[in-house]
Amino acid sequence: MRFDILTLFPEMFVSPFAGSILGKARERGLIDLQVHDIRSYAPGKHRVTDDAPYGGGGGMVMKVEPLALALEALAMPSEAGPVILMSPQGAPFRQEIATELAVCERILLICGHYEGVDERVREHLVNRELSIGDYVLTGGELAAMVVVDAVARLIPGVLGNSESARADSFAAGLLEYPQYTRPQKYRGWEVPEVLVNGNHREIENWRRRQSLLRTWRRRPELLAGAELSEADRTFLRELEAAEKEDRRETRPGR
Ligand code: ADE
Repeated sequence: MRFDILTLFPEMFVSPFAGSILGKARERGLIDLQVHDIRSYAPGKHRVTDDAPYGGGGGMVMKVEPLALALEALAMPSEAGPVILMSPQGAPFRQEIATELAVCERILLICGHYEGVDERVREHLVNRELSIGDYVLTGGELAAMVVVDAVARLIPGVLGNSESARADSFAAGLLEYPQYTRPQKYRGWEVPEVLVNGNHREIENWRRRQSLLRTWRRRPELLAGAELSEADRTFLRELEAAEKEDRRETRPGR
């Protein structure tokens, strides 16, 4: 898959995409990551990429022209594939969107900056806008890196063990179960007995229940969209009932 990133700060992308899994995926030709300096597409001697907003007010606005010219030069009109603007106003980036994007041949990401981006970029140049969370970053670069990372790891062959992409948090709509590795006992902290007894059915059962428990405690809203078996639902009903009982017992005056 090819990722094109349009940014005012191309140097920010060098190290995050050089090492570790993404670096190896690039070396192996599984992903092609092209980072482009928006400034180099800006016309004029000064290569201006921002200007004051019409109507007044503080801050600067990213100009439409350098972005339009960059997209033309990269032969990436919005019909050719996802042209994504990274901004806090975008749709929340979620695992399902990463999965959806992971089958594309090519994705282009634009990193917004300054006080905002000329609205005509949204109206005419991009077909998608994504936010990585309800907070404001200094620019879209870190957000674009998050999207590239989350999408790239889903491409077959990028992760050494395809098992880990399948079982991890969110892949099944639930949070991941707890993991342990050696030693079995450290400072008196022990690994749960079930994991060392070698009974694979019991281990699978325990892991499923831990996933459900963790999701129920930390992110209960995810349960509505998760694929649940009848046994899962029974377990969740038991959790609810136990919690109700707990509340009843600890109510003051009893
Ligand atoms: N640019 C600034 N803040 C952002 C966010 N939360 N998500 C995506 N792009 C951004």
